[in-house]
Amino acid sequence: MKKKILSAMRPTGRLHIGHYFGALKNWKKLQDEYECFYMVADLHALTTDFADTKNIAQNSLEMAADWLSVGIDPSKSVVFEQSKVSAHSELFLILSMITPLGWLYRCPTYKEQQTEIKGKDLTGYGFLGYPVLMASDILLYKADIVPVGQDQLAHLEFTREIARRFNNFYGQVFVEPEAKLTKTPKVPGIDGRKMSKSYGNSIFLAEDPESLKKKVQNMFTDPLKIKKDDPGHPDGCVVFAFYEIFNPQKALEKKEICENGKMGCAACKKEVLQYLEEFINPIARRRKELIKDKGFLEKVLEEGNEKARQAADKTMREIREALKF
Ligand code: TRP
Repeated sequence: MKKKILSAMRPTGRLHIGHYFGALKNWKKLQDEYECFYMVADLHALTTDFADTKNIAQNSLEMAADWLSVGIDPSKSVVFEQSKVSAHSELFLILSMITPLGWLYRCPTYKEQQTEIKGKDLTGYGFLGYPVLMASDILLYKADIVPVGQDQLAHLEFTREIARRFNNFYGQVFVEPEAKLTKTPKVPGIDGRKMSKSYGNSIFLAEDPESLKKKVQNMFTDPLKIKKDDPGHPDGCVVFAFYEIFNPQKALEKKEICENGKMGCAACKKEVLQYLEEFINPIARRRKELIKDKGFLEKVLEEGNEKARQAADKTMREIREALKF
């Protein structure tokens, strides 16, 4: 039997290439080796956006379209929406009963997000309970492995602890999942900071050709390299970082050429644009097709939701039995 994987993203709308190299590329690869569940965490979106929910459904659909466009394959993986599988909410309630508040207050993301996210009310019970909902997502499917970024490790640790606590009280039901941290390249935004939608420095997965060109032209390069034969410093140059992502061999060549002042930034950008176009254009084409046919996308999700419901209901029956309900 294949081992199980569950991973998820909050629906923030269109994804950028940082999401691809940081997660989706890996999700895609895992599909052949594992039984994969990939979830749109739309209930998690409520923890910060409860006051304004109008974008959540649309963002969910857009994100699912991006997933399919890069090769997440619904015939291999279960692609589904958290809010359509009510067992997530039910297990969230049950796990809340055995969650010591101290565990939640101690979670580093709780304090971090409160300083990072501005302009939203994060004083609620749901926001504090974020890790409980995430644990429910994972434990419901008895996932063995959860591919996540560094920032989610504390939530995974919480999940393991709450699984252990439940199993101690009521008998062995849950599997303690393992985090899978994959080495991924750092993808800078066009300004050199981390690529992030909130910084406005993203290149989207389905970026249209014209705006892609503009974004590459605006990429941050070595400010000391003014004329084309000035020696450059590739470290910290966004163009160079993209060579490293798309073609590490080429990056080595470019490094030398740049440091010796043998090529100007404009020419260098032109070449990197080609790599980006080769990568993005097919994704953008597939996405266009998908978005045209909203009914198809909705059908894919409904089928995924049904499969997820079946798997989750099976675990819910074991949970109720363990609780002697
Ligand atoms: N908290 C995750 C994030 O913000 C999203 C998420 C929700 C998740 N439920 C999950 C990730 C379950 C992995 C497993 O990135």
